[in-house]
Parts: sequence; C-alpha cells; structure tokens
Amino acid sequence: MAMEADNQIRDAQRVAWAGLSAGWEKWDSIIMDQLGPIGEAMIERLEIADDQQHLDIAAGTGEPGLTVARLAPRGHVVLTDLAPEMLDIATRRATAQGITNFETKVCAADDLPFGDATFDSISVRFGYMFFPDVAKATAEFARVLKPGGRLCSSVWVKPEKNPWTTIAMQTIATEAVLAPPDPDGPSMYRCAAPRYVSALYEAAGLRDVAEWNVDVELVTRSPAQYWEMISEHVSLAVAALQQVDEPARERIANAVIAKVSVYEDGGKVRVPGMACCILGTR
Ligand SMILES: C[S@@+](CC[C@H](N)C(=O)[O-])C[C@H]1O[C@@H](n2cnc3c(N)ncnc32)[C@H](O)[C@@H]1O
Repeated sequence: MAMEADNQIRDAQRVAWAGLSAGWEKWDSIIMDQLGPIGEAMIERLEIADDQQHLDIAAGTGEPGLTVARLAPRGHVVLTDLAPEMLDIATRRATAQGITNFETKVCAADDLPFGDATFDSISVRFGYMFFPDVAKATAEFARVLKPGGRLCSSVWVKPEKNPWTTIAMQTIATEAVLAPPDPDGPSMYRCAAPRYVSALYEAAGLRDVAEWNVDVELVTRSPAQYWEMISEHVSLAVAALQQVDEPARERIANAVIAKVSVYEDGGKVRVPGMACCILGTR
C-alpha cells in the first residue's frame, strides 16, 4: 500500500518536472545566480579533493554537481534525477562549459543503482522535499557513502522567510482555492522545520550533523520579468496556476507585478529568500 503511494508520488513528480524543465532551461542564468550561494556553501563544507568521487542527487539541470566536477578535474561526478528532461539540460549546460568528467543517471533518490561505499561525497540541493520516503532516501545516501564521506543538502526554510515565492503564492490564493499541502507529501516547504533533515541524518547513522541558514536573492530586470520567470518554473506556482482561467491569470499577474515593485532597487528587482544547509558525515 505504502509502496503504491510512493510510486504514485514518483510518477507525479516525474511528470511535473518534465513539464517544469523548459522553464528551468529558459531562466537558467537567473535561477543559477539565485541558488549559487547555496551551492557554494554546500561545496565549501564538502571539502572537494581534485580526485573526488561525487554523487549529486536530484541534480536537475546539474548544480551543484557540475561545479564539483570543475573542482575535481581528476575525479568523477554522477548526476542523478528522476526526470530525464532535467538531466538532458544538465548535459547541455556541461557541454557548453566544457565539463566532461561526469555522467548522468535517471533514478529515484530512495533506490540508488550504486554499490555500498562508492562515493566520497553527496549533494542534494533542493531535492529532499520531493522524495516520497525521506528516511529511505537518507538510508540510501548513507549506504553509498564511503566511511568518512560527507552528505550536504539544502531545503527552503519557512515561507515567511521566502518572499520570492510568497508574494506570488499569496496573490494566486486570492483567485484559487489552494489546498494546504499534505505534511508528508512532496511540496516546496515540507522540510522547513528546524532539524527536520538533521533528524533524518541522525536516524540513518550519520555523525557530526550540523545545519545553518544561508540567504539568497532573486534578481530580475523588472517586476514583469519576476512574474514571468516565477510562473514558468516554481513548482508551487505552476501547479496552482493550472487551477485558474486566463482572465484570473491576468489579474494575478497585474497584482504580483504591483506588489513586487516594492523590491525595485537600482534598476533591478531583488527579492530575498532563505534556505537551510545540512551537513553530516558517514
Ligand atoms: C528544485 S529541483 C533541484 C535541481 C538542482 N539540484 C538545483 O538545485 O538546481 C528538484 C529536482 O528533484 C527531482 N526529483 C523529484 N523527486 C525525485 C526523486 N524521488 N528522486 C530523485 N529526484 C527527484 C526533480 O526531477 C527536480 O529535477
């Protein structure tokens, strides 16, 4: 029964991310600039050696795994994700950057096709919230890490600290009835509670577990560009917008554009957010 439910979640996620992939590719440079400080914070604590064997889980369009590949010219990186469409973008990004010491593998985070003690390090940037069974996934990460190997992930903290999504979501909620997310089902803020991921690490036997918050900033050219990119790549917003008709969508767009204007600064729109990084050692 539980397995059936898990399969349904995975299938729904695969479909959802196949649909979101075009938005992620279109808005790649803005998204990567926004999420870059999180990737940097994670990589710093993973202490990448030049021959590192690294696994990136829910790698999507390739980060932070491709940056690790650049830092480990004699090493190797495996980018994994449930959605082949996202990994295809990762491959195009790698080709454009001249990165060759990597491979991609389509697989689910809680069922990894790798032997025990294979990797020196694992990254999971904004993946945890979408896994059907977060405990099983964490046990898989611990299994494929070498003793002494490190795991670092990141998740969004509570919506109140992330106006870059709440501005849009609160406005969409004026036109659509948004059901509260299932606390145990996939959604962007599912892992926001302090120590949610730390407790999973500890239950999987990882040691020296630490978590810390990192600020981000979403920077767009204009309020209109902010709305365009949010409505084309943010999982929560894209799902909610499927419930409204064209006139309502137009009203939402106008209201969001007016609201986000308060973040205009020096010819750009800069909307803040905050994520939590979680480190552990096998
Ligand atoms: C927000 S994106 C993160 C992409 C990338 N790590 C980044 O930070 O730019 C989330 C990714 O999780 C993937 N995903 C969702 N459920 C998954 C699962 N059960 N196993 C592996 N990946 C999954 C999605 O396909 C999507 O590419």
